[in-house]
Amino acid sequence: MLKTPLSGLAKLLLCCSPWFLNVASAAETLSNPTIENRIDDLLAKMTLEEKIGQLNQYSSSYDLTGPKPEDGRELARYEDVVNGRVGSMLNVLGAEATLATQKLVVENSRLGIPLIFGYDVIHGYKTIFPVPLAEAASWDLEAIEKSARISATEAAAAGLHWTFAPMVDVSRDSRWGRIMEGAGEDPYLGSRIAVARVHGFQGGSLADVDSLAACAKHFAGYGFSEAGRDYNIADFSESTLHNIVLPPFKAATDAGVATFMNAFNEIGGEPATASHELQTVILKDHWGFDGFIVSDWGSIGELVPHGVAADENEAALVAFLAGNDMDMESSAYRHHLAKLVEQGRVPMERIDDATRRVLRIKFQLGIMDNPYLYSDVLREKQALLNEEHLAAARDIARKSIVLMKNEGALPLEKNTGSIAVIGPFAADKDSPLGSWRAQAEDNSAVSLLEGIQAAVGPGVEVLYAQGAALATGERNFTTELTLNDSDRSGFDAAVQAAGKADVVILAIGEDAYQSGEARSQVDVGFKGLQEELLQAVLKVNRNLVVVLMNGRPMTIAQADESAAAVVEAWQLGSQSGHAIADVLFGDYNPSGKLPVSFPRHVGQEPLYYNYKNTGRPTSPGGMVFWSHYTDSPNTPLYPFGHGLSYTTFGYSDPVLNTTELAMDGTLTVTFTLSNTGERAGTEIVQLYVRDLVGSNTRPVRELKGFERISLAAGESRVVNFELTSADLAFYSARRQWEAEPGDFELFVGGSSAATQSARFTLK
Ligand code: BGC
Repeated sequence: MLKTPLSGLAKLLLCCSPWFLNVASAAETLSNPTIENRIDDLLAKMTLEEKIGQLNQYSSSYDLTGPKPEDGRELARYEDVVNGRVGSMLNVLGAEATLATQKLVVENSRLGIPLIFGYDVIHGYKTIFPVPLAEAASWDLEAIEKSARISATEAAAAGLHWTFAPMVDVSRDSRWGRIMEGAGEDPYLGSRIAVARVHGFQGGSLADVDSLAACAKHFAGYGFSEAGRDYNIADFSESTLHNIVLPPFKAATDAGVATFMNAFNEIGGEPATASHELQTVILKDHWGFDGFIVSDWGSIGELVPHGVAADENEAALVAFLAGNDMDMESSAYRHHLAKLVEQGRVPMERIDDATRRVLRIKFQLGIMDNPYLYSDVLREKQALLNEEHLAAARDIARKSIVLMKNEGALPLEKNTGSIAVIGPFAADKDSPLGSWRAQAEDNSAVSLLEGIQAAVGPGVEVLYAQGAALATGERNFTTELTLNDSDRSGFDAAVQAAGKADVVILAIGEDAYQSGEARSQVDVGFKGLQEELLQAVLKVNRNLVVVLMNGRPMTIAQADESAAAVVEAWQLGSQSGHAIADVLFGDYNPSGKLPVSFPRHVGQEPLYYNYKNTGRPTSPGGMVFWSHYTDSPNTPLYPFGHGLSYTTFGYSDPVLNTTELAMDGTLTVTFTLSNTGERAGTEIVQLYVRDLVGSNTRPVRELKGFERISLAAGESRVVNFELTSADLAFYSARRQWEAEPGDFELFVGGSSAATQSARFTLK
């Protein structure tokens, strides 16, 4: 039997968040009286079946414009499309295909309501940018916005209206493969990046022909999949929900995001897709979101295996009443909603509300007036992979690189006698594209080897040896990866090249399809023969630079100890090799900072800088009874916010304009940043705050501000941050968002391990 879908939990939790007080903004920006009147007129003409059609989304699995499919299921879906029983399609790609499919619908269905075409444009369409986690390491909001803007320009020219991005799931667990798709572990950085991405995708106005409707996903808690296993349950506290999980979604809403996607996971027993509290109470009622919510792929049907609905009929009922507007691919709405309305179990007002939300976005995109607006073969040709887009991809790629360690091995001289480029990713033109690479051609990235060859002078000898492949056989989005655990036939050549060279660049890490959806791992170290290769090479040449290519934080302790330098080069997209070479040779002075903690050991996961102190933070008199591991330090190998430069930076101690901040006052934090080295460089200065005593326990520190500052060698600059009580607010023991009077400590520096501090009191 169907049980009441909604838990009282979130209801309790959310009754008085101040987010609710300030919620008119999103609604006001989205609603427009002319559009609302036109929707009224249209709704008056629509049959129940046509309305439900708008709430149904299919993926394209064959050429709709070709001969009619023979297979029964496909034929039924084809008939649905041409008869207006589908409101959106995903995975119809390219100006020609979208145009032809749109014509089919507009010319054949009774009301000719156009489809909205959606696709996962996650980090580029044809021109591929760094994977989102890598981009987050740039902390460069302008560059991140630009990357989304270009992705939108390309995808819109190919006829798409809607991207299923940004993923704004905070994640603290490197075992979870989808950590590559978000902005890392911090809600503040994640919120700022969420806004940049929404603005980038949606541009100045959804009505612009190069804008995509964005989609904040996955609402909510998906990044907390238990034990890092994808699709697993999430089970976290009310405090974590409000203080960590929801802020980036709220920020996306305030930035005017057009759509939301719910999530596969349950939270504390309630699947997100069935959550009235999340979808209706928080998002629509309190935050004032008036776009629409799409389910995740098949997640309505999955309410049956979750065990909260007995069958597809109940699943449709629960999800729809919970507030999910559009059904991606489960067909549950198509099959059951009409009957549920007739039975009086689903009110007509809810059907009208969901249909209105979908139509609203279609009107805003301009496709109700011109359904063919986006599909433009010429524009598509000019936009895809053009020079300007590639230059921007190179720029954000090099800004995303994090110099983790450097014992003077870098930067390399361009006239270094000989360089050995070794490793499974040294000449790999595919893995740098990462997962979710949209329409990139396979093997189309600039490899590291190509990047180095293009950067060095003619007198330099560049030797290449793969050493060992990481994966064997087929690699793609849908299949498991088979690792090479035994073929060492390339080792000799690698050792020989290393022995001859002045410096070894060893490219190791992860295959593109090792992270991303359904790519959870219990071991986040180097797979296959990579560490063995490193040791073999190290025996003949200790001047070894590790270039890491990966989509998630990895356990790199051994490699890190052996190497003279470690460069975190993630999966940087189309221009990967050029961007890495820019950094290796010092044409670009690295400035990236980690958006996630790097563990010493996978057993530390979930690992994050904004942890709680616990009641036993230190050892009592040398005894064991404190919160620690007996076989590893608690600290990460590299903390959140860490990243080196080829120059060095000095910070003066922070000075405050007052040590007593009034609830309506402003605290100004001032310090001087100096470039104390011999090169120009960019530092990302960071401000952290600790609330020393709260009604609930508070994190040991929380990021509250950051800025990218570029200084010439020897130059200094005075830096100011401002804080108000709003910046100190949190979801408190009183179940509301508030700043509590009391003492605070703040820290300024170049990572979350910053030590220079000052204290103040909030009165
Ligand atoms: C993913 C979503 C994605 C959707 C459509 C799902 O499996 O979880 O993030 O947008 O597929 O491709």
